[in-house]
Amino acid sequence: MSSYSPLNRGNVIELRAQFPALQREVKGITPVYLDGPGGTQMPDSVIDAFSAYLKGGNSNLGGKFPVSQETVDLVTQARESAAALLGSAPNEVFFGANMTSVTFSFSRALSQQWEEGDEVIVSVADHGANRSSWIMAAKDRGVTVHYLPIKDSSGTLDLDVLDTLLSKKTRLVAVTAASNITGTITDLEAVIAKSHAVGAKVFIDAVHLLPHQLVDVRALDVDFLVGSAYKFYGPHLGFLYGKFDLLSAVTPYKVEPAPSFAPSCFETGTLNFEALSAFVAAVEYLASLGEGESLRERLASGYVNLHHYEASLSGYFLEKLKEVRAAELYGVDGIEGRTATFALRFGSRDPTVIAEALGQQQIYVWSGHLYADKLTDAFGVTEKGGILRVGLMHYNTFEEIDRFFDALNAFL
Ligand SMILES: Cc1ncc(COP(=O)(O)O)c(C=O)c1O
Repeated sequence: MSSYSPLNRGNVIELRAQFPALQREVKGITPVYLDGPGGTQMPDSVIDAFSAYLKGGNSNLGGKFPVSQETVDLVTQARESAAALLGSAPNEVFFGANMTSVTFSFSRALSQQWEEGDEVIVSVADHGANRSSWIMAAKDRGVTVHYLPIKDSSGTLDLDVLDTLLSKKTRLVAVTAASNITGTITDLEAVIAKSHAVGAKVFIDAVHLLPHQLVDVRALDVDFLVGSAYKFYGPHLGFLYGKFDLLSAVTPYKVEPAPSFAPSCFETGTLNFEALSAFVAAVEYLASLGEGESLRERLASGYVNLHHYEASLSGYFLEKLKEVRAAELYGVDGIEGRTATFALRFGSRDPTVIAEALGQQQIYVWSGHLYADKLTDAFGVTEKGGILRVGLMHYNTFEEIDRFFDALNAFL
């Protein structure tokens, strides 16, 4: 029987009981975690899944005994969970330590297909992991790099400029699905259609979008997409989706023990099986927020549920922000076209000083450029301390937003 119910102010308090970290007091105060885009807290089910794997028997793959077969089954299950999360086939996903590692190692392999004179496009809005991986690969291969700029302070990528940058020489367009500092969501359909029209492949960093929105790689027709499970209540584990024919056509840049077939050929060395066990539980946790028959249906419904609640938090947050003197919002002004992540400045105040003051009151936010330094450059604020980032997740409450603004106003 489904335990589904729409998230609201009341039942989020009950849901929070599943998250031990949210119950903890630090220096006698219950922390307010507004740092979700940097990494979320985990529910008991995910935490328990780590030890369940280890308690059940730790074994490598391929042994002629049952516990080894259980690990084989776990890896199969993890690929199925990833496939349900992304709308792919299970053999189109591989795992690694984190998003940066899978992107960096895959960039070594994919770029073997590039030739001198080819071009790649990276974006100003991206986290460095999805920029420098490709820039370094391009340098090694004599490939030209173009930067896709943003349009304005909304942080939206300028797709008119994309038209002028794309050509038959473009091999790859690497862009973020949503900015990790402004929350601004990219029009992926447009980027993919324009890129495919000239024969370029598209590599999407979905790390910041996946905690907030369901992705459908088939409907998007995206070539490659990466995610990181610790951003959505899961373990520190990265994963990369690629269309199976494209993955199979890439010559893996690999060591001898890795298999020669996709997707396992991209998994160098022994996988983190306990993290895979927790990953399966994290996908199941997201699905538990919804209802339906299949895992994919429950995920779709769960995401609608958390989106509605997070949008209500965003609306409340933006209303309260209007009352704050000298507050400047970088990113989309409104609840549409964004996640519940906010990049803020308050006049000439250094965001890190504000973050420290809030941190002392156990209100956790981030400050600086958060590795999206080309974006803070474009906003002209990198040298001024960047931005203050407030990230709301579905376990945050209206009362926590009040605590944030009370402390902020008192400081200002
Ligand atoms: C948008 C985005 N992309 C990539 C990364 C890097 O992810 P990982 O820590 O899994 O390497 C982050 C981490 O903060 C991020 O926010």
